[in-house]
Amino acid sequence: MILVTGATGSIGRHLVRRLTNLNVEFTALVRDPQAASLDCDVVAGDYDDPASIARALEGVDRLFLNGGGAIPTDGPQPMVRQQINAIDAAIDAGVSTVVKVSVWGAKPGGKLAEGAHWEIEQHLKTSSLSWSLLQPSGFMQNFRTGAGTFTDDGALIGLAGDWRVSYIDAFDIAACAAELLISPHRGNETYVLTGPEALTQAEIAKKLGVNTLDLTEPEMTARLTGLGLPAPFAADVVDLWREVAAGSLSATTDRVQHLTGGRPRTFDEFLAA
Ligand SMILES: NC(=O)c1ccc[n+]([C@@H]2O[C@H](COP(=O)([O-])OP(=O)(O)OC[C@H]3O[C@@H](n4cnc5c(N)ncnc54)[C@H](OP(=O)(O)O)[C@@H]3O)[C@@H](O)[C@H]2O)c1
Repeated sequence: MILVTGATGSIGRHLVRRLTNLNVEFTALVRDPQAASLDCDVVAGDYDDPASIARALEGVDRLFLNGGGAIPTDGPQPMVRQQINAIDAAIDAGVSTVVKVSVWGAKPGGKLAEGAHWEIEQHLKTSSLSWSLLQPSGFMQNFRTGAGTFTDDGALIGLAGDWRVSYIDAFDIAACAAELLISPHRGNETYVLTGPEALTQAEIAKKLGVNTLDLTEPEMTARLTGLGLPAPFAADVVDLWREVAAGSLSATTDRVQHLTGGRPRTFDEFLAA
């Protein structure tokens, strides 16, 4: 039996649809079964309620481990505690394999999600479980969910420059996750997942039919703190922008094709879908 966490999220909704279409037996863990409105078996569970996670893992053999990203906080990112507890609960429940969504660039001391995912990755890698780590580039969905940043009148905000990001559709991340969950295990491996092309902000804005607003680092910091974000969090976000502007997410890989046999979606195909 497979347990899918983060089932209502950008990746999770695609994964639920794909596993359903493939007639694979699975259960989706959701915090609020009614609000989730998923057309599959669901179990109620919350990472912050360890007993609910232990119950949901009964009889589970393979776990898709995903949750929300970094949140504004002065302390450690909650996802570290949440996912490490879930990994320990999986071991107790006799789970054999975990497929975890991480982030491209996860590293010790990394800012926000990069550092948090690295800590969770280490816990998983040194556990008795077999594992697969998905390290995606930026999601195309960010431009629909608001995680990509827009002004009130719809301009796409970014640090000035012609830097590129190989955005990936969550549809393709889900396709890779499904393959790793249902196929015989391929061994403990990390997969950097990207779309087929790396685009500039200007190119994306043109596809979306919006303007761009190019900011300097101090302007970006002022904008984030002006929105009420704590100064240390805003500083970490700007550090991440600087990494991206230096090209940290600009390469493309062949890992989606390697895992699924299909070419990942372009930005135009994402918009059309
Ligand atoms: N966005 C990017 O560009 C990007 C790039 C690389 C990696 N990532 C990583 O991708 C992950 C997010 O994936 P996504 O976009 O598919 O997710 P998402 O759309 O942000 O949705 C988050 C999911 O996690 C669930 N969740 C949140 N808190 C939970 C809790 N306490 N207990 C149980 N479930 C909980 C949510 O369930 P509810 O329905 O109950 O809220 C929802 O299904 C993050 O780890 C992020 O670091 C993101």
